Amino acid sequence: MAAPVPAQVVPAHTTLPLLIITGVRAVDPAQRLDAVVDVVMEGGSISRIGRGAATQDLLQSEQAMVVRGDGLLLLPAFIDMHAHLREPGQEYKEDIASGLAAAAAGGFAHVCAMPNTRPVNDTRAVTEAMIARARSVGGPALHPIGAITVGQRGQELTEMADLKEAGAVGVSDDGRCVTSSAVMRRALEYASTFDLAVIQHAEDHALTEGAQMHEGAISTRLGLRGWPRVAEDIIVARDVLLAEATGARYHVAHVSSLGAVRILREAKSRGISVTAEVTPHHLTLTDEAVIGYDAVCKVNPPLREQADVDALREALADGTIDVIATDHAPHSSLEKDCEFVEASPGMLGLELVVPVLLGLVRAGNLPLGRVVDALTRAPARVVGLDAPTLAQGARAELCLVDPEHRYRLDPSRLRSKSRNTPLLGRELCGQVCLTMAGGRIVFVDPLIEAQRSAPQAPGGAGS
Ligand code: DOR
Repeated sequence: MAAPVPAQVVPAHTTLPLLIITGVRAVDPAQRLDAVVDVVMEGGSISRIGRGAATQDLLQSEQAMVVRGDGLLLLPAFIDMHAHLREPGQEYKEDIASGLAAAAAGGFAHVCAMPNTRPVNDTRAVTEAMIARARSVGGPALHPIGAITVGQRGQELTEMADLKEAGAVGVSDDGRCVTSSAVMRRALEYASTFDLAVIQHAEDHALTEGAQMHEGAISTRLGLRGWPRVAEDIIVARDVLLAEATGARYHVAHVSSLGAVRILREAKSRGISVTAEVTPHHLTLTDEAVIGYDAVCKVNPPLREQADVDALREALADGTIDVIATDHAPHSSLEKDCEFVEASPGMLGLELVVPVLLGLVRAGNLPLGRVVDALTRAPARVVGLDAPTLAQGARAELCLVDPEHRYRLDPSRLRSKSRNTPLLGRELCGQVCLTMAGGRIVFVDPLIEAQRSAPQAPGGAGS
């Protein structure tokens, strides 16, 4: 019998001829699958999945690498439709190589990169350069999102035909809101001719000038200028009307307020073509995290109140919010180790999705299947990608997770160049052990694997 794989020796970025995971709990909402199975991958595709799929013949094959899956979860690899990889222009915070490495460590096979780079990704040339760079790096696939307006200045529309042809999968001015109703209407009309979703950063800037955090009792107590919920709600309400009038595909980035949830729920009940995403941090943190003036908790839109968190969780559970997206926003100590009012908004996300979301599942706030769907099929629909799945015949795009592994988040664990997460030094539970993207291994966790490479009992392959 082939030995269980000591993953330190599994070369990343390789396709193994025969990789077998035995006795693993596989969860794939697209297949209505939640069962303990064996999974056999040959040449980067899933050739067999089911109880007893790992036959003795296969297990004894010289070429087989076997991973014991008992106690582990096998999920389709994730799609992040909202990340900031900072290349071109701010590579001291992150670059495409470090961002994709972080994504692989987080369980992602696909990452959509927001266009607020320097220069802004508002042209074919930038889109193509990003894709070429990602291909040379390997790892998860990168899908740029082009800008809605030239320079994200909110005035002149970009050449969306070019962006799409170059590989952009959506358009957004994320970080800035398209505040002009006329520009937004034209953007929706134009983007719909290319079947691109228009992804809005919903913030009425006139209502948030100088804002540092959510407007409420805590902002008053801290003496920080507040960002009221209504600044988000106004834009979402207006855009829903524009989406209805144009029939275009409209998507709300990082929803944070209970009012926006109410508007989205009503819009969906009327059949308007609206989708929305929520971040792990808006699902788990409130403005109380800001009490110590810790700039790491400054994000845009801001962390709000428990009533908002509850509304977001409920909306994600019932499908009003379709997608979980990280809004991975790396910043260096220059932008974060400073006075709160000087700090840039944003926190890391790519590497922390699994422990944060498994925490919500464990606490009974969200079913695992819904979380997986919100990280796979739902974003795939918005940005027009094929969703990773565990179906027989599918290209291997999956992640293996140890849901019970506990560890303290040490900065040295992070693949990102930046360290701006409030979870540093905290005890986390849940760890990605292995990620495959495009049929190839793109991440293996050596610590976890060392624990799992103990010899197997004869015939104890798990099926
Ligand atoms: O917190 C945020 N950071 N929100 C955004 O919309 C932009 C992002 C960034 O680029 O840092």
